[in-house]
Amino acid sequence: MTDVSKQESIAAAGAVYYLFGATGDLARRKLFPALFSLYKEGKLAEDFAVVGLARRPRTNEQFREDVHESIKEFCRYKVDDALWSKFAEHFVYMPLDINNVEGFRELKGLTEQLDAKFGIPGNRLFYLALAPDLFGPVSFNLRDGGLLETQGWSRLVIEKPFGYDLESARKLNKQLNQVFQEEQIYRIDHYLGKEMVQNIQVLRFSNAFFEPLWNNKHIANVQITLAETVGVEERGGYYDKSGALRDMVQNHLLQMLSMIAMEPPSRLHPEDIRDEKVKALRSLRPFATDEEVARNVVRGQYTAGALKGKDLTGYREEDSVNPESKTETYVGARVFVDNFRWAGVPFYIRTGKRLPVKTTEVVIEFKNVPDNVLFANRHDLSPNLLVIRVNPMEGIYIKINAKKPGVDNVIQPVSMEFCQSCQIGINTPEAYERLIYDAARGESTYFTRWDEVAQAWAFVDRMAQAWREDNSELHTYAAGSWGPARMDEMLEEDGFFWWPVNGQEEDNVIWISGSSK
Ligand code: BG6
Repeated sequence: MTDVSKQESIAAAGAVYYLFGATGDLARRKLFPALFSLYKEGKLAEDFAVVGLARRPRTNEQFREDVHESIKEFCRYKVDDALWSKFAEHFVYMPLDINNVEGFRELKGLTEQLDAKFGIPGNRLFYLALAPDLFGPVSFNLRDGGLLETQGWSRLVIEKPFGYDLESARKLNKQLNQVFQEEQIYRIDHYLGKEMVQNIQVLRFSNAFFEPLWNNKHIANVQITLAETVGVEERGGYYDKSGALRDMVQNHLLQMLSMIAMEPPSRLHPEDIRDEKVKALRSLRPFATDEEVARNVVRGQYTAGALKGKDLTGYREEDSVNPESKTETYVGARVFVDNFRWAGVPFYIRTGKRLPVKTTEVVIEFKNVPDNVLFANRHDLSPNLLVIRVNPMEGIYIKINAKKPGVDNVIQPVSMEFCQSCQIGINTPEAYERLIYDAARGESTYFTRWDEVAQAWAFVDRMAQAWREDNSELHTYAAGSWGPARMDEMLEEDGFFWWPVNGQEEDNVIWISGSSK
């Protein structure tokens, strides 16, 4: 019989959570629902408090109402009244001018009351859902306002973008380091909180039949797609300064690439894992000249088009976008990881707005068998594929060759699929739930360390630098299409093509196991 008293608690240590930017979109769509899910699952016990902070005046009641609305709209759990009332008691709001240290002193007073009321052991989690130029000033005022003088731990959670390029990222990091140690800084890349991104490690390192093949002897190329159907929506002002390179490639795409390319860590310790990731990033072959960038990187911008019968405007006509903007909404690239494992294997990466489907997928294309005694010269063999579906479908499928039933000597590609989202439906924890929970437990594996961020900036800065020259080519693509044709040509040059991703039609596939189809 299970001894309940001896079961390990799953609750994170009690803490005060400070949400800077509490009236913003991220808090409403992601953070409040994530906190509620954690509470419902017992991952937050009763010894916690959430302080909403923003400039706007709001009473505790109004703030709780905002939180309630957000949870009803965005949480994966249905909100029942009894649980909501208990949860809501933990939420307070304080208007704060983040440039004024006096407010931070007041916040310290409020914190002491909350510690006493909820029995919180002095732990502090500062979540900055703010523009990055505010990270420094807020950190200084946290220190000067006395909020870091505590018996418990203090952690800083920050959102991307972490800088605009390597130089600005360095400056920002330097400011943060005046107040926080690297171990206290949790840089969010929400892709690292996604179930299937975390699964890459498990898949690679716990299966006998992947890791031995995971190298240039057996892998022909790797394709990583991060496609979105949305345009820039109401974020034109931010996006026009950022573009896809800084918004998606520097972080989400390179993080996924590093998880695919990294060597096995010697221990499952956050620092060992991040050491391996940074080594993979360091092995990325830098583009030496503008010509190399032009040959290997495609930057594109969408023009007017249509998707699912709906007319769409071009990027330059979007709200808050410069009508002559050269900002890229698509980046595709051929990159190489120059080490023993990956020498010669192209990694094709692409991301774009206003593409035909919303999907994030990694396709590993294997080399063909060296000799095919039974069917040599009579049939083209389709290569084996391993596909990791990250988003919104979660799962893994493998494409192999098998004999066509009833017909002699005819081979056809067939697929085996593990569809995780079909099995647990919408109830996979959201990335933000996992990341907030991890930060509260001091588990930093799925947060980006400074050297990873710096390495990724150094790599993409070279592309941005080439694009700053006016003569660098900006390709266009119609909204609702698969991006500039140049990217397809690049794969053709190498004898490859983009494998269809989820949502695109694929011929000749028989789903033989675990299929959702
Ligand atoms: C964000 C980008 O980091 O990721 C957005 O700023 C993008 O532009 C979003 O839309 C995509 O995230 P997801 O989880 O919806 O694939």
